[in-house]
Amino acid sequence: MSLHMAVEVVRDSEVSLTAQIQSFIKSEIAAGSLHAGTRLPSSRRLADDLDVSRSVVVEAYGQLVAEGYLEAVQGAGTRVVGHLTTQAVVPTLLGEDRVPEVRWDLRPGGGNLPDFPRRDWLACYERALRSAAPSAHAYPPLAGTPALRLELSQYLGRARGVRTTAEQLAVVGGFSQGLDLLCGVLRREGVDAIGVEDPGHPGQRQFLQECGVRPVPLPVDEAGLDVTALAATDLRAVLVTPAHQFPTGVTLSEDRREQLVRWAREVDGLIIEDDYDGGLWYERGQRPLALQRLAPERVVYAGTASKTLAPGLRLGWLAAPPDLLDRLLRERARHDLGTETLTQLAFAELLRGGLLDRHLRKLNARASTRRHALEEAVRRHLPGAEVLGPAAGLHAYVRLPRHTDEAALVSGALRRSVAVRGGAAFHARPRRGAPALVVGHAHLPRSGITEAVRVLAEVGSRAPAEVRSR
Ligand SMILES: Cc1ncc(COP(=O)(O)O)c(C=O)c1O
Repeated sequence: MSLHMAVEVVRDSEVSLTAQIQSFIKSEIAAGSLHAGTRLPSSRRLADDLDVSRSVVVEAYGQLVAEGYLEAVQGAGTRVVGHLTTQAVVPTLLGEDRVPEVRWDLRPGGGNLPDFPRRDWLACYERALRSAAPSAHAYPPLAGTPALRLELSQYLGRARGVRTTAEQLAVVGGFSQGLDLLCGVLRREGVDAIGVEDPGHPGQRQFLQECGVRPVPLPVDEAGLDVTALAATDLRAVLVTPAHQFPTGVTLSEDRREQLVRWAREVDGLIIEDDYDGGLWYERGQRPLALQRLAPERVVYAGTASKTLAPGLRLGWLAAPPDLLDRLLRERARHDLGTETLTQLAFAELLRGGLLDRHLRKLNARASTRRHALEEAVRRHLPGAEVLGPAAGLHAYVRLPRHTDEAALVSGALRRSVAVRGGAAFHARPRRGAPALVVGHAHLPRSGITEAVRVLAEVGSRAPAEVRSR
């Protein structure tokens, strides 16, 4: 490999060339220009580029390895060391927490996802690339490629009961971009506040705030969003997760769905349906369909590939009423020039061939065994605790006995190399309800779930003064 690195040295300095190279690399690491894990050029290549003797670079690299700035990896050259893992604590729209590397990471979201279907994706991408017309390499249509919009309209109608057409769909860069565009449109119409579920996604609350739309927390109970509380405000927009409330996992009841749609019609309001893990459902019986089908003229349905495939794809979609879609696209024209075409075409292939359905079947089967392992471990080791909500998605909400000190349990677990999020992190307002844990389980081996829950039980029982009675 013939890597290049820009290094500044002064030839007629009193400081030796070796010392200059060393201090340059150190200062670039400190300034953040040289990132953790960056591979550096070989000593021979850098010496050639700088026109210095190779021993100068060998000595500089050797010293930096000894001081812990660089690491020499056999067969992979010299790299900047990585000090911290930087996985997101919750699926973040903004901001990330960092924790040291742990044995069992039960935090939902971020990198904690099951396997990506590499082989299928590769085959679909190859097919898409081979059959792509020259126009595929031009700027994409702002609303997305027609092929993907068609496939999505059929898939969403079939799998989620969404009432839409290819013309009413827009492909976006994940739900986050969809939400950003919606905020832009709402703001232009004088709507500067939006109802959000409490507990809910902390990153989303912050994101909305940053987008200039104030999030107004509304309570959630066993039937989902409290629509009576919503109706008591003067809000005209609300963001909900009806199928599998984030993070409690409850499903919005039929009554509440009707009540919510009635509210939207009465106040000329807008409902944003975040179907973030739609398709991940392994509870017996009927899976809830999209809320949007009740009032396609009042609900923007939002989906994403972040939970079912990978957040790194940055692929999402909105099914919006026609006049709203136009405004969203005008808003988008101010942001970027569309979503990358080949990714869209590969995703269209995945849908067309039924490969997403097959992948979801596998994912659901896997997540189901993890959920069972979690339920079993909680039953055995955490008496009084209970896994709430239907078996769905990649995480579960574990309600803890009332006396538990959630914060002490979470920090005690981290000291034992188990990272987990307490329910408090998801609440906007101080809560009266029971302490809880939000457990991402789908990426873990079953034995890991059992072991991690056992650690939680030990932390809870070994430090009663700290954990139980604070
Ligand atoms: C509640 C919720 N909504 C939406 C998303 C997806 O956002 P995006 O599509 O921008 O990755 C997530 C994260 O995966 C989430 O937890």
